[in-house]
Amino acid sequence: MTEVANTEVAVLFVCLGNICRSPTAHGVFEKRVAEEGLASKIYIDSAGTGDWHLGEQPDPRTLLAGQQRGYDLSHLRARQVKAEDFDLFDYILAMDRKNLANLQQLKPRHFKGHLRLFLPFGRDLVDEVPDPYAGGTEGFEQVLDMVEQAAEGLLAHLCDAHLNEFPSSQ
Ligand code: 4NP
Repeated sequence: MTEVANTEVAVLFVCLGNICRSPTAHGVFEKRVAEEGLASKIYIDSAGTGDWHLGEQPDPRTLLAGQQRGYDLSHLRARQVKAEDFDLFDYILAMDRKNLANLQQLKPRHFKGHLRLFLPFGRDLVDEVPDPYAGGTEGFEQVLDMVEQAAEGLLAHLCDAHLNEFPSSQ
């Protein structure tokens, strides 16, 4: 397994429960990074600001929606954001403003990385990923649509800003 210390840039995706939006972003980005041969350079993880689902697999609806698009999210387990994350990660990317605000409260003064919303790396005008937990299956499709396009923008940004590489999709 890739250790964070051996990689060039580390990205943490954050939502509330770490069973719907952030594991989707984790799995989608992990697949794209692997396709580009960059798995040894980019460390990826996800976490929740809440603690209700610690140790759980992604929500069954998240797993199914991902599987239908070719993403295997079954290895992921929910965890909560911790203080150490601000020492390890260069990019801490929130799915919505509420989680971003919670992360800003946790952020230590010495954090030198980037704490911001994830979606603006993409080209959509919408900048928050809606919480699909209480809704129907279409919400999980929407999460995937949003995450897939923002993942391309994030990959291009990391390649340009940190890796001196050009993703094949650009
Ligand atoms: P997520 O969705 O933040 O995208 O993982 C949620 C999952 C669980 C809950 C809320 C949102 N919950 O209240 O348990």
